[in-house]
Amino acid sequence: MQAVLDYLNHHQSRFVDELREYVRFPSVSAQPQHKQDLQACGEWVLNHCQGIGLDARLCPTEGSPVVVAKTPRQSPSLDSVRPHFVVYGHYDVQPPEPFELWKSPPFEPRIEGRSLFARGSSDNKGQNLAHLKAVEAYLKTGTPLPCDITFVIEGEEEVGSRSLASFLKKHRAELSCDAIVISDTGMPSPKHPALTYALRGIAAFEITLHGPARDLHSGIFGGTVDNPAMALCQLLSKLRDKSGRVAIPGFYDDVEPLSAYERKQFARLPFNARDYRKFLGVPKLFGERGFTPIEQRSARPTLEINGLTSGYQGEGSRTMVPAWARAKITMRLVPNQKPARAIQLARQRLKQLCPPSVRLEIKSGHGAEPYLVSPTSPQAQAALRALKAAFGCEPVLLREGGSIPIVNHFQRILRADSLLLGLALPDDNAHSPNEKFDLDCFAKGQLMGAHLWQELSRL
Ligand code: BES
Ligand code: MN
Repeated sequence: MQAVLDYLNHHQSRFVDELREYVRFPSVSAQPQHKQDLQACGEWVLNHCQGIGLDARLCPTEGSPVVVAKTPRQSPSLDSVRPHFVVYGHYDVQPPEPFELWKSPPFEPRIEGRSLFARGSSDNKGQNLAHLKAVEAYLKTGTPLPCDITFVIEGEEEVGSRSLASFLKKHRAELSCDAIVISDTGMPSPKHPALTYALRGIAAFEITLHGPARDLHSGIFGGTVDNPAMALCQLLSKLRDKSGRVAIPGFYDDVEPLSAYERKQFARLPFNARDYRKFLGVPKLFGERGFTPIEQRSARPTLEINGLTSGYQGEGSRTMVPAWARAKITMRLVPNQKPARAIQLARQRLKQLCPPSVRLEIKSGHGAEPYLVSPTSPQAQAALRALKAAFGCEPVLLREGGSIPIVNHFQRILRADSLLLGLALPDDNAHSPNEKFDLDCFAKGQLMGAHLWQELSRL
């Protein structure tokens, strides 16, 4: 094991160079013009896996290809007795827009201090590369691994993992395992490594209000037709009440209330409301009344407008009544809400609220169920020991507000729980301009990976 740790220590600067190569691919899954870049990025991951000694292949899907890479198996007869773990990650990234807010171009990595800036550096390329490096250290030093490991690195996570569920079903036998390991979440600070035991689910939809058949002169025609942008604002304003609750009848029906025990645990996490407010740059925090910010952002459901478009957006003015207005919306869900149900309720409410002067069109998008597992299982305890060994301080338990669509499919199809061991810091700017990854988190993430296989295989 010492050889593994020494290897990691010794090769950090090459690993950073490799991460720089990895983040140069503009593998933006939401934008069709990047299809080739996703393919090329998948091929880079494939070659990388082969280079470190994994048996790897690229599996085509209807969307981006999935990389499957396995540690060399011992003799087939031993296969069934050795523990087997799947490491999941994604090589696709969120759109980088708006470009003008980046201090350096999103796909030209820049290092400043201990931060590597690039889209995808933290979410999720840096995190999955850390796991690959840990396994490389075992393979290249000839240190026997105490378990079999299969990497599954996909290219559609940021658009809801459309192809992965059917992929899992098809490869169920090959991927059958004792647990899934995922580093695609966060930690509160470098001194607080974390095991995340719950994620929110998500349900996405898009509303379009159609008005006149074309944009109209607002002087000649304005006053005689409804304005779709105005109608949309009025509609959207009715979806949340003053106390910060989602104003859709039935929305909270399935929400599991928080236990007193859990609320007490949340209250013990490091959190300073004033620093948090300043860090986010808002004049005042706002959230559902009766809950703390930690609860609001991780264990309570929300409805957010992610995008709002209508009319003229260019310089100066163009006086017109727009033909249409559109909003992109996501709801974050908590146990035991279901995405399909949440969309159905929203649809009903919008239909009721929509005035007859515009035509309502609703398109539903991706969805994922919320996730919650026990943080006291032997596997979770083993993961906590690996975090402590790598980071040198006591780990914390988190519920987080983001979503990883595939974790529920892992549970349902492979019957395996996910150990969420995130390496992202709160100021990594995931999904925002100037995303970065902390190179100390990168190095400690590799150590965590190295320890994890020992701890998990001992159970
Ligand atoms: N890594 C995130 C999810 C995450 C981030 C979980 C922080 C917990 C803490 C993941 O890549 C992500 O952003 N997922 C999307 C999923 C969606 C587009 C279906 C999300 O949560 O918005
Ligand atoms: Mn993401």
